[in-house]
Amino acid sequence: MQKLGVVITGSGSATPATALDNQELSQRVETSDEWIRSRTGIRARRLATASESLSAIATQAATEAIAMAGITPAELDLILLATSTPDDLFGTACQIQAQLGATKAVAFDLTAACSGFVFGLVTAAQYIRTGVYQNVLLVGADILSRWVDWEDRRTCVLFGDGAGAVVLQANESDRLLGFELKSDGTENRCLNLSYKAQSKQLIQGVNIGHGTYQPITMNGKEVYRFAVQRVPEVIDKALFRANLSVDKVDWLLLHQANQRILDAVAERLKIPPHKVISNLAHYGNTSAASIPLALDGAVRQGQIQSGDIIAASGFGAGLTWGAAVFQWGR
Ligand code: UT7
Repeated sequence: MQKLGVVITGSGSATPATALDNQELSQRVETSDEWIRSRTGIRARRLATASESLSAIATQAATEAIAMAGITPAELDLILLATSTPDDLFGTACQIQAQLGATKAVAFDLTAACSGFVFGLVTAAQYIRTGVYQNVLLVGADILSRWVDWEDRRTCVLFGDGAGAVVLQANESDRLLGFELKSDGTENRCLNLSYKAQSKQLIQGVNIGHGTYQPITMNGKEVYRFAVQRVPEVIDKALFRANLSVDKVDWLLLHQANQRILDAVAERLKIPPHKVISNLAHYGNTSAASIPLALDGAVRQGQIQSGDIIAASGFGAGLTWGAAVFQWGR
């Protein structure tokens, strides 16, 4: 029988060693541990140094996920890297392929900001469900510290760096039970890391836009409102597609943006607090890495067990948002 179902067989994660807690951050911008903790739940974040790279932490996370899945890099058919902060704008997935020695795998980047992991999960599943590929590595990794405005206390306190990875494999039964993905580019201005061009004359009459990317800007209040309204809707839709009622969810695994968002979404869905996975006290918002980083932590701490139903949801720039309901384990 052809295996056209999807199962997640391994997870891994990696974060830079350098940690910066709220107290230390208050030496740089006018803020306080009390403000950051009470408004966001964040206590510390990890930050990549100049000698660290996205490909290195992504490869470290990937190596763990591949080991847990019990396969070798040479067996991978596809590597997807969800990121907004590649080492190379042409893409960083191929560097991960090279570092892993995944000689057979095709590799490319996918950008959907903080929704990148959920979008990547669904993308990976399509290749498996159509019978094209059997073994897919999905990495969510970001080094947002490269693009944060470290003078802006409204944003710099929120973000951290990290990587998380999963291996998806073809299986007789399908454990991706339902999903829903959404985009709304009309709200793009709420959260940006945009390119700013200055006109540069090449020759008389021919000008191009030559510039660079600008630091992150965000309308926190609008993004907060958007998340609290849209995330429960999209999880409801994914659960409907999975033909599951909300009481069947063992774990709510949201993009780790703000503890208040996690609490509000859980409350709207009537999911009790003990089912909400949270690691943002230690890592802050790691963008595309946040869901797989939290997933891997919960798996390795023995919180998530084989057979558990997980409702995952990412949301962020684009705007993009989406949910995937899946069952952990073979
Ligand atoms: O991954 C992408 C998804 N991003 C998100 O999900 C972010 C969603 N938004 C949020 O999490 C929240 O809106 C924030 C945590 C960003 C901000 O929390 P808030 O409760 O909405 O605060 P606020 O922006 O309304 O600011 C309240 C006050 C302001 O002072 P005034 O104008 O009331 O005097 C800010 O200037 O807090 C001030 N403030 C700060 N004070 C100390 C803003 N940032 C800081 C800070 N330290 N770091």
